Amino acid sequence: SNPIITVIGSINMDMVTTTVRVPEQGETVMGECFRTMPGGKGANQAVAAARLGAEVHMIGRIGEDSFGKELQSHLKKQNVNVDGVEPVTDNHTGVATILLSERDNRIIVSAGANDDVTPDYVKRHSAIIDRSDMVIVQLEIPIETVECVTGYCYEKGIPIILNPAPAHPLPPAILDAVTYLTPNEKERDELEIDRVTYKKKLIITLGEKGVSYMTDEQVEEVIPGYKVEVVDTTGAGDTFNAALAVALGRQKKMKEAIQYANAAAALSVQQFGAQGGMPTDDEVRDFLEKRTHAE
Ligand code: RIB
Ligand code: NA
Repeated sequence: SNPIITVIGSINMDMVTTTVRVPEQGETVMGECFRTMPGGKGANQAVAAARLGAEVHMIGRIGEDSFGKELQSHLKKQNVNVDGVEPVTDNHTGVATILLSERDNRIIVSAGANDDVTPDYVKRHSAIIDRSDMVIVQLEIPIETVECVTGYCYEKGIPIILNPAPAHPLPPAILDAVTYLTPNEKERDELEIDRVTYKKKLIITLGEKGVSYMTDEQVEEVIPGYKVEVVDTTGAGDTFNAALAVALGRQKKMKEAIQYANAAAALSVQQFGAQGGMPTDDEVRDFLEKRTHAE
């Protein structure tokens, strides 16, 4: 059966400039091409989970501008319930300026309306959270909100994944309340996570090396990722988190859930844009079947 997932987080328009190389300080270079694409870690995770078959509800905010309208109708088209997405009058829709070069991607987020995803705003929409099998949050909304949401889910016994991106130190109240934490290596270094209880919650994405987690026997295991042709890694982490939530929501064991999420992420990087290439459940299953036979 398909889980009900609530994503609380950012909605951005991605302004993507593709360039052979990024400029040095004070330098101007000619870019290759420019495109606007729907993005934002919250919205990306919502769309990824919906494509994988979950019933998805988004809690977030947009500005009263053309990007806001576009992004809201885009979410609807992607089968994301947007009853929890309300416009603000005094702020612009979130924007991410992305420089995509052959070497890497570099992102500047201008939060705008995402800063208005306040604890009070989320409380107004708590009925959605109460009905959820799984909640996902990231760090492109105010940290007080993340603290409030994780505490609320903890009290209600609703599993919650915190994707601590972009990197930011977290207070113990948040670390105590979350069910799972999914940093990459850089983000992990920002966290104070020496305590054993925290280590049990950690699912660390190691890029090409795979994903590490603690087994029931308390040993660290690394699940290898899948080698594919990469077009654009933007949003790969978002697809991973959404797929992990969907698989865990379907009561899969952690190891199987990570394999499913690795496959979803591998499929997503083969197309341009954060949400381009996010697979359906069938596509992930096909991919996993083929890879298993190939081994
Ligand atoms: O995780 C990728 C996302 O980060 C992009 O879509 C961009 O909006 C930034 O928020
Ligand atoms: Na993509």
